[in-house]
Amino acid sequence: MLQANLNFSRLPERYLFLDIAKRVAAYSKAHPEADIIRMGIGDVTRPLVPAVIQAMHQAVDDCAAAQTFHGYGPERGYLWLREAIVNGDYKPLGVEMNPDDIFVNDGAKSDTGNIGDILAPGSLVGITDPVYPVYVDTNLMRGNVIKYITCNASNGFTGDVPSQKFDVIYLCYPNNPTGAVITRSKLKEWVEYALKSGALIMYDSAYEAFIRDPQIPHSIYEIEGARECAIEFRSFSKTAGFTGVRCGYTVIPQELMVSDGKGGKVSLNSLWERRQSCKFNGASYISQKAALAVYSEQGRAETAATIDYYLETARIIRESMDAAGLEPQGGENAPYIWAKTPDGMSSWQFFDLLLDKAQVVVTPGSGFGPAGEGYFRITSFADRQRTIEAMDRIKKIL
Ligand code: MLT
Repeated sequence: MLQANLNFSRLPERYLFLDIAKRVAAYSKAHPEADIIRMGIGDVTRPLVPAVIQAMHQAVDDCAAAQTFHGYGPERGYLWLREAIVNGDYKPLGVEMNPDDIFVNDGAKSDTGNIGDILAPGSLVGITDPVYPVYVDTNLMRGNVIKYITCNASNGFTGDVPSQKFDVIYLCYPNNPTGAVITRSKLKEWVEYALKSGALIMYDSAYEAFIRDPQIPHSIYEIEGARECAIEFRSFSKTAGFTGVRCGYTVIPQELMVSDGKGGKVSLNSLWERRQSCKFNGASYISQKAALAVYSEQGRAETAATIDYYLETARIIRESMDAAGLEPQGGENAPYIWAKTPDGMSSWQFFDLLLDKAQVVVTPGSGFGPAGEGYFRITSFADRQRTIEAMDRIKKIL
């Protein structure tokens, strides 16, 4: 009989956010009257901004006429969007970027999960813990060996640069789930480590738009040498509310090389182009036009206002958690707040308590890895009034 990919037996039974959704659905079925406030998955709640909506309407109209209709797009994404990314996201940081370093996709999750296609299976992968579960699950699916790099209060939730060698390291800043940010000097340590040891850094900066402190780096390429050792993932999901539209991009600098196994080198950029042209047909013309609008003057102002809204919501959550003595982290240059469960409760015990007694959904910290035990995550991608109500309800049961 045909055998399944047995690596799947190494995975948790369900993907974290599906697990939570199923538990909440079961609770809801048993308590149909419950008014549940969902602050678990980081899905945006504010509508798309007018600049994006106008661009999408226009793109639909383009597709309605033979002269302006668009079918399959270029495999790396339309040049007009890649140029806007270079000029809008990297130039202001003083970072030189070539449009051909960029691959437009249907959101960062796909590429962070699929990127392993172009690397040797069986790699030794260092993953900061707690962590966005996609990096762990997709590496396990490939049969890679994972070792956690613990992030906790003693290292500012940014993890100590390891002494051992890894093939690949995953970093995410501003961090999901802890909301921690990385300083320029700490990021420099990681880049130096990678250059010295030959590791490849997968840098997920999906939440960079939440950075307000000018000292904090938005991109790993702000650090010298990163073009030779890092891939960066960005997304319009959290920047511009595209969780339903689906558009993001991956940067693979053309000088980024790995061994070809025959004593030579091969460019990851060319391997990824080969992979994408075979397995992916591009983000839709409509979503790429929508993404382009994010870089217009109007688009920038409107999306910044939406992020300010979430950051203010994050401030409210953080203050409430602080007042409750739960030692919150994050929520200042990031949309997530990471806090300790009370009275030594486990993450899932506290999740159940909040659902049962306050009808508030959070994400249990242990779902993000062993170092998350005893913590929980709250997202600020929520309605302001509902957040205030959730904070009141939590206060009452503590
Ligand atoms: C989260 O809640 O961690 C995010 O929504 C997950 C994602 O972006 O896929």
